[in-house]
Amino acid sequence: MEVMSLIRRNSFWAAIAMLGLAQATTVGQGSPANVTFTKSIQPFFAKNCYGCHNPKLKTGGLNLEAYTSAASLSQDPDQSEKILKKLQAGEMPPKGLPRPSADEVKTVTTWIESELDLQTESDSGRVLTRRLNRVEYNNTVRDLLGVDVRPADDFPQDDSACRGAAFFRCYGSRLRGTGG
Ligand code: HEC
Repeated sequence: MEVMSLIRRNSFWAAIAMLGLAQATTVGQGSPANVTFTKSIQPFFAKNCYGCHNPKLKTGGLNLEAYTSAASLSQDPDQSEKILKKLQAGEMPPKGLPRPSADEVKTVTTWIESELDLQTESDSGRVLTRRLNRVEYNNTVRDLLGVDVRPADDFPQDDSACRGAAFFRCYGSRLRGTGG
């Protein structure tokens, strides 16, 4: 095989593998863009919760100051869920203390809910289920490689049997370069 066509062939399949990865990371960014952990969530905890849930007191066994980023909270879905429940029930901060406004609570609970959704999505692998259809595939390969090949034309028809986890069963041999 000619060197050029070998390179093209290999980078072609490498590109397709990369498409798969790009897809996996772009699907499902659920939180509203202007609500971030540092801008909205941490200040809310600091104002309403740190008084008791700090590293010294750890009231109820909970140190909220330990959560310093969105990731640290979403990596702890059990605790996130408890926080969510307490806020939704209006049980925290405890009765008798100044209450955060309903809007503030709503912002925080919505954010936690969408973080928890993200968590379950990546746990179950659902983020991987969407694949490019054949037209998108051809266009993306063309844009990526600058060559007007239409590799997806001889892929099997788009059908549910080849979606999601089945994708690699359907196309795996091609991706590994053994099937043609
Ligand atoms: C005045 C002190 C105080 C403040 C302020 C406070 N809490 Fe609590 N928190 C407690 C106490 C006491 C408990 C343990 C009893 C209970 O679970 O109700 C607790 C328990 C909890 C629990 C359950 C922990 C577990 O693992 O069971 C969560 C979640 C929680 N708080 C969240 C919050 C959040 C979020 C805030 C801020 C909006 C907050 N708390 C503010 C005193 C406080």
